Amino acid sequence: MSKPREHWGSKFGFILAAAGSAVGLGNIWKYPHMAGQNGGGAFTMVYLICILIVGLPILLAEISIGRHTQLNPVGAFKSLSKNSNWKLVGFLGVASAFTILSFYSVVGGWTLKYTFLALMGAFAEFSAGQGAGEAFNQFIMNPIEPVFWHLVFMGLCILIIAQGVKSGIERWSKILMPILLVILLVLVFRGITLDGADEGLRFLFSPKWSDLNASSIVLALGHAFFTISLGMGTMITYGSYMDKKSDLLQSALWVIGLDTAIALLAGIAIFTAVFALGQNPAEGPGLIFVVLPSLFPSMAGGAIFGIMFFFLLFVAALTSAISILEVVTAYFIDEKGWSRAKATYIFGGVIGAIGVIASLSNSGYNILSPITDMTFMDLMDKVSSKYMLPLGGMLTAVFVLVRWGISRFVDEMHVGAAWFKFSKPVVTTIFIISGIVVAYIFVRELLAVLG
Ligand code: TRP
Repeated sequence: MSKPREHWGSKFGFILAAAGSAVGLGNIWKYPHMAGQNGGGAFTMVYLICILIVGLPILLAEISIGRHTQLNPVGAFKSLSKNSNWKLVGFLGVASAFTILSFYSVVGGWTLKYTFLALMGAFAEFSAGQGAGEAFNQFIMNPIEPVFWHLVFMGLCILIIAQGVKSGIERWSKILMPILLVILLVLVFRGITLDGADEGLRFLFSPKWSDLNASSIVLALGHAFFTISLGMGTMITYGSYMDKKSDLLQSALWVIGLDTAIALLAGIAIFTAVFALGQNPAEGPGLIFVVLPSLFPSMAGGAIFGIMFFFLLFVAALTSAISILEVVTAYFIDEKGWSRAKATYIFGGVIGAIGVIASLSNSGYNILSPITDMTFMDLMDKVSSKYMLPLGGMLTAVFVLVRWGISRFVDEMHVGAAWFKFSKPVVTTIFIISGIVVAYIFVRELLAVLG
């Protein structure tokens, strides 16, 4: 055997790193714009229900598989089920990592550009609530500038992963994540004290069920996977760096609690402002880049908050992006015997190149334009969240039920568990329900697409 596997520095190491992975653009960029386009409250409710009945069980399954095997996703499925096809679930995860990171790092680049704009004091011009939309569109339509920022973002991911995740990330997350939470609370306070804020709160929290259709349910389910980093082996990989003293249920609840709290706070901050400033909730992927820069100039200290907000969003995006790249890297290190540096540079480079195609697809150079209106970037987003992650997550649940076995899974969860005993029949029922929910939504969507 090679050297012993590294472990997180402390009991909180996993929670911090896993929360760092979970909390990212999904919470602050993606959730608000999707809710805005899919009926607000109804989308929020379905998303929260999915987190509880699907997200929590599958998160527990992933971290148990990771801690039990101490391996990357492909190796983990291989070692729990020798000579079978279950390792394909691990491969699906590695493929999802390519798909997700290629658009994720484009938006990561946008956060860098906006940090820079905030530093230059550029938001001051948007004080009338005008101009921010035009500025954003002009930026993403430019063929060069967003590509540049995307490459900077991807380069930073590569540098961090080439050095190994632990020391840097554990330490950074500990300091920066709490600051992000404080900034969000300030924005929430500013948001709810604006005239007309209540309309935003109503939009976000009182569900109009008539707004809900099959397509928004699939999106909400896919988003539940995306926002907790499920369905592609990230949590298997991070779980594999856990030691036997950690309490898995407690860790999972912390990760989910933090992730959900940050998404809802971001939603409140943004939709109170959207309605108070008379902006369009269905603006799309530009939503936060249009709304927040118009809000900051109206706040005391807004210039500073603007800088801090986009910088911390960039940090949150970076701690998530590295968790995606780490899945690819860990696979090539563990299974192919590559060096960390080689795996990171080569596949970081490949993802960076796919990201260039994604970034250009917003600017009139969309390689899909002969076939469809959809941009390549949007396709990467939809294919991964709507299909790849739910499929990966569902197969993980099925794997625990029919191959690994609920009793071995429960035994693993009891290792280090201080305060809780799981009942096997209850866990089995929960897994069956959660598998059926995903399968139902997934198969319906597939039929709708094919038929
Ligand atoms: N959860 C992160 C976010 O919300 C993104 C992310 C990181 C992710 N790792 C993942 C999504 C693995 C899916 C799978 O921003």
